[in-house]
Amino acid sequence: MKQILFTLVLFIMMTMCANSQNSKVLVVYYSWGGNTRVVAEKLKAQLDADIVEIVPETAYPTDYSECVAQARKETKANFRPTIKTKVENLGDYDVILVGTPNWCSTIAPPVATFLEQNKFNGKKVALFVTHGGGGLSRCESDMRNIVSNAYFLKSGVFSGSNVASSDDDIAKWLKEIGLK
Ligand SMILES: Cc1cc2nc3c(=O)[nH]c(=O)nc-3n(C[C@H](O)[C@H](O)[C@H](O)COP(=O)(O)O)c2cc1C
Repeated sequence: MKQILFTLVLFIMMTMCANSQNSKVLVVYYSWGGNTRVVAEKLKAQLDADIVEIVPETAYPTDYSECVAQARKETKANFRPTIKTKVENLGDYDVILVGTPNWCSTIAPPVATFLEQNKFNGKKVALFVTHGGGGLSRCESDMRNIVSNAYFLKSGVFSGSNVASSDDDIAKWLKEIGLK
Protein backbone atom coordinates (compact mmCIF):
# COMPACT_ATOMS: atom_id res chain seq x y z
CA MET A 1 0.00 0.00 0.00
CA LYS A 2 2.83 2.34 1.02
CA GLN A 3 4.64 1.57 -2.22
CA ILE A 4 1.55 2.30 -4.35
CA LEU A 5 1.09 5.62 -2.56
CA PHE A 6 4.76 6.51 -3.06
CA THR A 7 4.60 5.64 -6.79
CA LEU A 8 1.43 7.70 -7.16
CA VAL A 9 2.98 10.77 -5.47
CA LEU A 10 6.12 10.39 -7.60
CA PHE A 11 4.01 10.14 -10.76
CA ILE A 12 2.01 13.27 -9.85
CA MET A 13 5.21 15.20 -9.08
CA MET A 14 6.81 14.14 -12.35
CA THR A 15 3.71 15.09 -14.30
CA MET A 16 3.64 18.52 -12.61
CA CYS A 17 7.32 19.12 -13.44
CA ALA A 18 6.87 18.03 -17.02
CA ASN A 19 3.82 20.27 -17.37
CA SER A 20 5.66 23.38 -16.13
CA GLN A 21 8.74 22.73 -18.19
CA ASN A 22 6.80 22.05 -21.38
CA SER A 23 4.69 25.18 -20.93
CA LYS A 24 4.40 27.69 -23.72
CA VAL A 25 5.86 30.87 -22.28
CA LEU A 26 5.46 34.48 -23.35
CA VAL A 27 7.85 37.15 -22.08
CA VAL A 28 6.27 40.57 -22.29
CA TYR A 29 8.05 43.65 -21.00
CA TYR A 30 8.43 47.41 -20.96
CA SER A 31 11.86 48.99 -20.65
CA TRP A 32 12.75 52.67 -20.61
CA GLY A 33 16.51 52.47 -20.12
CA GLY A 34 17.27 48.94 -21.35
CA ASN A 35 17.74 46.99 -18.08
CA THR A 36 14.42 45.17 -18.16
CA ARG A 37 15.00 44.41 -21.85
CA VAL A 38 18.27 42.67 -20.96
CA VAL A 39 16.50 40.41 -18.46
CA ALA A 40 13.64 39.79 -20.91
CA GLU A 41 16.06 38.71 -23.64
CA LYS A 42 17.86 36.39 -21.21
CA LEU A 43 14.53 34.84 -20.20
CA LYS A 44 13.65 34.35 -23.86
CA ALA A 45 17.00 32.63 -24.44
CA GLN A 46 16.85 30.42 -21.35
CA LEU A 47 13.28 29.30 -21.96
CA ASP A 48 13.12 29.46 -25.75
CA ALA A 49 10.10 31.68 -25.12
CA ASP A 50 8.32 34.17 -27.35
CA ILE A 51 8.92 37.82 -26.52
CA VAL A 52 6.89 41.01 -26.97
CA GLU A 53 7.85 44.55 -26.03
CA ILE A 54 5.21 46.86 -24.59
CA VAL A 55 5.50 50.10 -26.54
CA PRO A 56 3.66 53.20 -25.31
CA GLU A 57 1.87 55.24 -27.97
CA THR A 58 3.81 58.29 -26.77
CA ALA A 59 7.37 57.60 -25.65
CA TYR A 60 8.43 58.80 -22.21
CA PRO A 61 10.93 61.69 -22.05
CA THR A 62 14.51 60.60 -22.63
CA ASP A 63 15.66 63.00 -19.91
CA TYR A 64 15.78 61.10 -16.58
CA SER A 65 14.40 63.90 -14.36
CA GLU A 66 11.58 64.65 -16.79
CA CYS A 67 10.74 60.96 -16.97
CA VAL A 68 10.68 60.64 -13.18
CA ALA A 69 8.45 63.72 -12.88
CA GLN A 70 5.99 62.29 -15.43
CA ALA A 71 6.12 58.83 -13.84
CA ARG A 72 5.39 60.34 -10.41
CA LYS A 73 2.30 62.10 -11.73
CA GLU A 74 1.05 59.09 -13.65
CA THR A 75 1.56 56.51 -10.91
CA LYS A 76 -0.09 58.77 -8.35
CA ALA A 77 -3.13 59.21 -10.60
CA ASN A 78 -3.25 55.52 -11.68
CA PHE A 79 -2.99 56.83 -15.21
CA ARG A 80 -3.06 54.23 -17.98
CA PRO A 81 -1.19 55.44 -21.08
CA THR A 82 -2.25 54.13 -24.48
CA ILE A 83 0.03 51.39 -25.77
CA LYS A 84 0.70 50.18 -29.31
CA THR A 85 1.20 46.59 -28.21
CA LYS A 86 -1.50 43.99 -28.77
CA VAL A 87 -0.97 40.27 -28.23
CA GLU A 88 -3.73 38.67 -30.28
CA ASN A 89 -2.75 35.10 -29.35
CA LEU A 90 -2.33 35.50 -25.59
CA GLY A 91 -4.65 32.51 -25.21
CA ASP A 92 -1.98 30.25 -26.72
CA TYR A 93 0.32 30.67 -23.73
CA ASP A 94 0.34 28.79 -20.42
CA VAL A 95 2.74 31.15 -18.66
CA ILE A 96 3.15 34.91 -19.05
CA LEU A 97 6.26 36.55 -17.59
CA VAL A 98 5.64 40.28 -17.32
CA GLY A 99 8.65 42.58 -17.06
CA THR A 100 8.69 46.07 -15.66
CA PRO A 101 11.13 48.56 -14.21
CA ASN A 102 10.27 49.63 -10.68
CA TRP A 103 8.86 53.11 -11.22
CA CYS A 104 8.04 55.12 -8.10
CA SER A 105 7.72 51.85 -6.16
CA THR A 106 5.20 50.33 -8.55
CA ILE A 107 4.88 48.88 -12.05
CA ALA A 108 5.49 51.25 -14.96
CA PRO A 109 2.18 52.66 -16.30
CA PRO A 110 2.50 51.06 -19.78
CA VAL A 111 2.72 47.67 -18.04
CA ALA A 112 -0.35 48.50 -15.96
CA THR A 113 -2.19 49.28 -19.22
CA PHE A 114 -1.14 45.94 -20.70
CA LEU A 115 -2.27 44.06 -17.60
CA GLU A 116 -5.60 45.86 -17.58
CA GLN A 117 -6.28 45.31 -21.29
CA ASN A 118 -5.75 41.57 -21.28
CA LYS A 119 -7.34 38.53 -19.68
CA PHE A 120 -5.12 36.06 -17.85
CA ASN A 121 -7.80 33.64 -16.67
CA GLY A 122 -6.33 30.30 -15.65
CA LYS A 123 -2.82 31.28 -16.70
CA LYS A 124 0.33 31.31 -14.65
CA VAL A 125 1.58 34.88 -14.37
CA ALA A 126 4.86 36.08 -12.89
CA LEU A 127 6.31 39.54 -12.71
CA PHE A 128 9.99 40.27 -13.20
CA VAL A 129 11.16 43.60 -11.94
CA THR A 130 14.40 45.51 -12.36
CA HIS A 131 15.05 48.22 -9.83
CA GLY A 132 17.49 50.85 -8.61
CA GLY A 133 17.60 49.72 -4.99
CA GLY A 134 13.92 49.58 -4.03
CA GLY A 135 13.46 45.91 -4.93
CA LEU A 136 9.96 44.67 -5.62
CA SER A 137 8.27 47.49 -3.63
CA ARG A 138 4.50 47.43 -4.41
CA CYS A 139 4.92 45.99 -7.90
CA GLU A 140 3.49 42.55 -7.19
CA SER A 141 0.62 43.68 -4.99
CA ASP A 142 -0.36 46.35 -7.52
CA MET A 143 -0.29 43.78 -10.32
CA ARG A 144 -2.51 41.47 -8.28
CA ASN A 145 -5.01 44.30 -7.90
CA ILE A 146 -5.26 44.63 -11.68
CA VAL A 147 -5.14 40.98 -12.77
CA SER A 148 -7.81 38.56 -11.67
CA ASN A 149 -8.29 34.81 -11.99
CA ALA A 150 -4.63 34.06 -12.69
CA TYR A 151 -2.29 31.76 -10.80
CA PHE A 152 0.50 34.04 -9.58
CA LEU A 153 4.03 32.72 -9.38
CA LYS A 154 6.79 34.27 -7.26
CA SER A 155 8.17 37.47 -8.78
CA GLY A 156 11.73 37.71 -10.10
CA VAL A 157 13.60 40.71 -8.72
CA PHE A 158 16.82 41.93 -10.35
CA SER A 159 19.05 44.87 -9.59
CA GLY A 160 19.14 47.17 -12.62
CA SER A 161 22.86 47.73 -12.35
CA ASN A 162 23.65 43.99 -12.46
CA VAL A 163 21.43 42.82 -15.28
CA ALA A 164 24.35 42.01 -17.60
CA SER A 165 25.52 39.30 -15.19
CA SER A 166 22.11 38.10 -14.05
CA ASP A 167 22.07 34.77 -15.95
CA ASP A 168 22.56 32.61 -12.84
CA ASP A 169 20.02 34.59 -10.79
CA ILE A 170 17.53 34.26 -13.63
CA ALA A 171 18.12 30.51 -13.87
CA LYS A 172 17.69 30.21 -10.07
CA TRP A 173 14.38 32.09 -10.19
CA LEU A 174 13.12 29.99 -13.11
CA LYS A 175 13.92 26.83 -11.11
CA GLU A 176 12.05 28.22 -8.10
CA ILE A 177 8.93 28.80 -10.15
CA GLY A 178 9.19 25.43 -11.88
CA LEU A 179 10.02 26.59 -15.37
CA LYS A 180 13.48 25.02 -15.49
C1 LIG B 1 10.83 57.14 -13.85
C2 LIG B 1 11.68 56.26 -13.00
C3 LIG B 1 11.30 55.97 -11.70
C4 LIG B 1 12.06 55.10 -10.92
N1 LIG B 1 11.65 54.80 -9.65
C5 LIG B 1 12.34 53.86 -8.93
C6 LIG B 1 11.89 53.47 -7.64
O1 LIG B 1 10.91 53.97 -7.10
N2 LIG B 1 12.61 52.52 -6.99
C7 LIG B 1 13.73 51.92 -7.53
O2 LIG B 1 14.31 51.06 -6.92
N3 LIG B 1 14.18 52.30 -8.76
C8 LIG B 1 13.51 53.24 -9.48
N4 LIG B 1 13.95 53.60 -10.71
C9 LIG B 1 15.14 52.91 -11.28
C10 LIG B 1 14.71 51.79 -12.21
O3 LIG B 1 13.75 50.94 -11.63
C11 LIG B 1 15.88 50.89 -12.63
O4 LIG B 1 16.95 51.67 -13.12
C12 LIG B 1 15.43 49.88 -13.67
O5 LIG B 1 16.38 48.85 -13.80
C13 LIG B 1 15.22 50.55 -15.02
O6 LIG B 1 14.78 49.61 -15.95
P1 LIG B 1 14.81 49.95 -17.51
O7 LIG B 1 16.24 50.25 -17.85
O8 LIG B 1 14.33 48.71 -18.16
O9 LIG B 1 13.92 51.10 -17.73
C14 LIG B 1 13.24 54.52 -11.46
C15 LIG B 1 13.63 54.85 -12.76
C16 LIG B 1 12.87 55.72 -13.52
C17 LIG B 1 13.32 56.06 -14.92
